Amino acid sequence: MASTNSNTIRIGILGCAKVVEKNALPSLQNLPGGKLTAIASRDRIKTQEWAAKYNLTAYDSYEELLSSTEIDAVYIPLPIGLHEQWVIAAANHKKHVICEKSLSTSLQSTKNMIEACQKNNVILFENFMCAYHPQHEFVRTTIASGKIGKVRIYKGYFGFPPFEKNSFRYDPILGGGSLNDAGAYTIFMARKIFQTEPIALTSTLEYNTEKGVDIHGSLFAEFPHNQVAITSFGFDQVYQNNYELWGQNGLIKVNRAFSIPPNLAPPIELITNENMTQKTQSPILLPFNQFEAIFIDFIYCINNKNSPIATIEQQHRIQNILNQARCMEAIRISHKENRKVMLLEVN
Ligand SMILES: NC(=O)c1ccc[n+]([C@@H]2O[C@H](COP(=O)([O-])OP(=O)(O)OC[C@H]3O[C@@H](n4cnc5c(N)ncnc54)[C@H](OP(=O)(O)O)[C@@H]3O)[C@@H](O)[C@H]2O)c1
Repeated sequence: MASTNSNTIRIGILGCAKVVEKNALPSLQNLPGGKLTAIASRDRIKTQEWAAKYNLTAYDSYEELLSSTEIDAVYIPLPIGLHEQWVIAAANHKKHVICEKSLSTSLQSTKNMIEACQKNNVILFENFMCAYHPQHEFVRTTIASGKIGKVRIYKGYFGFPPFEKNSFRYDPILGGGSLNDAGAYTIFMARKIFQTEPIALTSTLEYNTEKGVDIHGSLFAEFPHNQVAITSFGFDQVYQNNYELWGQNGLIKVNRAFSIPPNLAPPIELITNENMTQKTQSPILLPFNQFEAIFIDFIYCINNKNSPIATIEQQHRIQNILNQARCMEAIRISHKENRKVMLLEVN
């Protein structure tokens, strides 16, 4: 069983998910002000195994972990269709929540979760950890410097070869589909890079009729000042994980954009045209653990949640979660009704 000092935020995890084994367990054993202390699973044997291996307290059910007075916050890496139920349950148990993306499958569901967290005065994070990687700040600074001129187009691709057949990603009830899983990142990053919300979204989603989920999709987002985002995502393609910005005088290519290992130096290319000659540079950026970074921020926000600045930051975070959910809703409506959707319509 894990031990902590009295000020440490104790984090429990709901579910022995793959994303936890890949990212959380290596990164979250010891963080400034916080510690991973517990795990709960539907599978008792798995819980015991993980608890022993990673020095965690094992709980036999999600409910039991949420009821524990030994836990201050929870990480929810469950299938997307289960997020609403467990985020609300966690909030009602006064646990702060960091929940995997996409937070929900609808705008209303996101609103329900926000309401529960606000009512219980707990912090809510959506785990878009890519937001924390400094490579995107580098991109923004480069654009601001004028090096590639006015940027008109963001193009983003995120997609993978098929998952194993029983993956929750093929189950509509569990919130499957490539938009919720991969497409969400592409619009999230366009919003982050342009630092504003789209005016209108148009999308097309390709459904696998047997599975009942979208396995591929594309979208076109119109932003203010004639800037647009064109993105594609899917589950049955060669791996893509990148975006690029096409400016009047140059191009920036971010070749490992949404998911990037903590030990990989970001492979970015900066292509400019000087005196009719194309020049390609590979700026040197340091590797960075974005998973650890978002958890450090989560813990910091919990520890400082009553300060005036934290209150403002929490409002921004919630607004950002809502804005993302509105875009996702607009994308769904656009596909369903086969039309362009103005973001103002979606409330
Ligand atoms: N931020 C990122 O970079 C990133 C990367 C990958 C995935 N994700 C997100 O993380 C979440 C989990 O993805 P994953 O790939 O790790 O999935 P996964 O391995 O299938 O894990 C999901 C876990 O949910 C639990 N669960 C509870 N009810 C379930 C049900 N009815 N069917 C299936 N599982 C159920 C299971 O844990 P127990 O059996 O132990 O209870 C399972 O291990 C998703 O929301 C996904 O979008 C985020």
